Amino acid sequence: MPDHVFPRVESLTEAQAREELSRLAAEIEKANAAYHGADAPEISDAEFDALKRRNAEIEARFPELKRPDSPSDRVGAPASDGFSKVQHEIRMLSLENAFQDSDVAEFDERICRYLGVEGGLSYTAEPKIDGLSLSLRYEQGKLCVAATRGDGETGENVTQNALTIADIPQSLTGAPDILEVRGEVYMSHADFTALNLAQQAKGAKTFANPRNAAAGSLRQLDARITASRPLRFFAYAWGALSDPLGQTQLGAIERLAELGFQTNPLTRLCDGPEAMLAQYRQIEAQRARLGYDIDGVVYKLNDLALQARLGFRAATPRWAIAHKFPAELAWTRLLAIDIQVGRTGALSPVARLAPVTVGGVVVSNATLHNEDYISGRDSKGGAIRDGKDIRVEDWVQVYRAGDVIPKIADVDLGQRPQDAQPFRFPQTCPECGSSAPREEGDAVRRCSGGLICPAQAVERLKHFVGRAAFDIEGLGAKQVEALYTDGWIATPADIFTLQARFGTGLQQLKNREGWGEKSAQNLFAAIAEKRKIPLNRLIFALGIRHVGESSAALLAKHYGTWDRFESAMTGASLGQGSEWEELLSIDGVGAVLAASVLEAFHNTRERAAIDALAALLDIQEVTKRAPLNSPIAGKTIVFTGTLEKMSRAEAKVRAESLGAKVSGSVSAKTDLLVAGPGAGSKAKAAAALGIETLDEEGWLALIAGA
Ligand code: IVH
Repeated sequence: MPDHVFPRVESLTEAQAREELSRLAAEIEKANAAYHGADAPEISDAEFDALKRRNAEIEARFPELKRPDSPSDRVGAPASDGFSKVQHEIRMLSLENAFQDSDVAEFDERICRYLGVEGGLSYTAEPKIDGLSLSLRYEQGKLCVAATRGDGETGENVTQNALTIADIPQSLTGAPDILEVRGEVYMSHADFTALNLAQQAKGAKTFANPRNAAAGSLRQLDARITASRPLRFFAYAWGALSDPLGQTQLGAIERLAELGFQTNPLTRLCDGPEAMLAQYRQIEAQRARLGYDIDGVVYKLNDLALQARLGFRAATPRWAIAHKFPAELAWTRLLAIDIQVGRTGALSPVARLAPVTVGGVVVSNATLHNEDYISGRDSKGGAIRDGKDIRVEDWVQVYRAGDVIPKIADVDLGQRPQDAQPFRFPQTCPECGSSAPREEGDAVRRCSGGLICPAQAVERLKHFVGRAAFDIEGLGAKQVEALYTDGWIATPADIFTLQARFGTGLQQLKNREGWGEKSAQNLFAAIAEKRKIPLNRLIFALGIRHVGESSAALLAKHYGTWDRFESAMTGASLGQGSEWEELLSIDGVGAVLAASVLEAFHNTRERAAIDALAALLDIQEVTKRAPLNSPIAGKTIVFTGTLEKMSRAEAKVRAESLGAKVSGSVSAKTDLLVAGPGAGSKAKAAAALGIETLDEEGWLALIAGA
């Protein structure tokens, strides 16, 4: 920003100063949003600093003119500020990964088992495009909403931006009235190189790889910038539909091509695992010549009726899998080994590396898993890397598979400095000094400090505000860390008393990530909004070891309300009594998880933190969607023995979708036992308790038509 264009600060009149502060606030806000919201600054750092300096100088001369939204009080913008949210009518899922040929055969076997067929299924095989997914909603043939994946349930509305992409038709002829087309936005290698050269020439930020460039270009608040970026789109899936697109995956994709979408020309129909692997090799052989990044091959069951029977797990379909290409490798120097302390106290060694490019991304950290891994042993004491240990100063081989954390594969002993010493893994927590014992059968050492350990406390807070937990807008890992360091929050409950304790004083937080009055108000509003929280999210957010998203959902579904859950956990004793039995009766809850939940509820300090939090929340019970006309709604069913027409897994999913609860063990609470051939002790127990028992025929008759 050349200074001479604008009047010198000393010569400004009050009216000019007011106008100038308003202009600067808008410019800085725009630059901030472009930088934080879309990974692509529109002005250089020096220009940005000049704007802020001028703003501060004017404020110093006219303090009374300082704006309530002054840029001086504000650094950074929440990543997604500016995009409205879109709730996906049908969730956008991710894919399970396969890494080896045998995983592909197992994928087919698993599907056959689930469907109760012997084999003979066909699958499509197509490249897995390395970009970002986008959902396009057409109503009456007009593109009306384009949304990013977001967390799968809610994405960002990028319609204006999508309208600028040439591969995306704005209108369709002959399409279903409602059609959501899903696919990948990506950038070609040639366009990526040209874009980076242009960015460099402008002194603007360059992108690490085509995927980042595509993401940064699509997520621009100013659609004119997206329009100037050469984005492309391949359609490969769909969401909501008013009419089916076809009866097969391939047929549906062909229909999308007829409607005017780009579909990948390497898509093939394969009869079983051998043909799938052949197509994988075909695609792999062409990878370098495609002109765009792919990171594997996606297989999808071709028959859509069978896809529907298979349905979904928590976040992935059962009928598709991504077969990833082998990881990329590079050699570099190991500079140091740091120990990080996680949410559950685990001491995790992290390799600090001399930066090296692996598959287009600069890597300077890698995980070292645990102390055994460093010393060249696996969890059973067997040798890994031929028993070679890893030492600081070693020359190590780093690999990256997809977006997972880089790992260390090998060590070159020929390059080891003579004075390199074996790594001594700490026996105490480097953060709080508490002992860090390693329990029998556990691969990791854990800090025994619990909430007194600052690292555990802060990691728990980060987990608490994470996407699948409380997901508080404007309160991410960085902000939580700053608030913790400044002593403003120590436990989750403190987040909900923040406003009462500090109010607008929050704007004084002297931190780079600090807030101004407006953003503080936004933050309080975002916090207040999350006081109302679904039970499953709360249970997950507590950060109890072994309790992931899906087990939290199981617990929430079983107990229904916080009061029931809390009193059951309070009343339960480890390994005995009816509460313990009830906990274990939940299909998917094992003794390790159950013990871990009890440990949290029976530890005085943890319990106090949980109670303080619960008292500040409005916890939403899990609403049971009992479908009408279901003969098994609300009943507890146990499956045992072999089912022939339907696998146990499918039977369970069916029963649950009809409103029943499926339990792993027979008790007085069981309403129905479905016993196939080979049923043993469960059938006896049910008979002893006088519980209704059906064979597979009876079960199928019961649910027929439901
Ligand atoms: S199908 C319900 N097909 O990979 C299944 N995904 O790791 C929907 N992706 O989120 C996805 N190429 O962004 C599918 N040919 C392809 C793909 C593909 C890339 C991405 C997609 C998805 C991610 C999962």
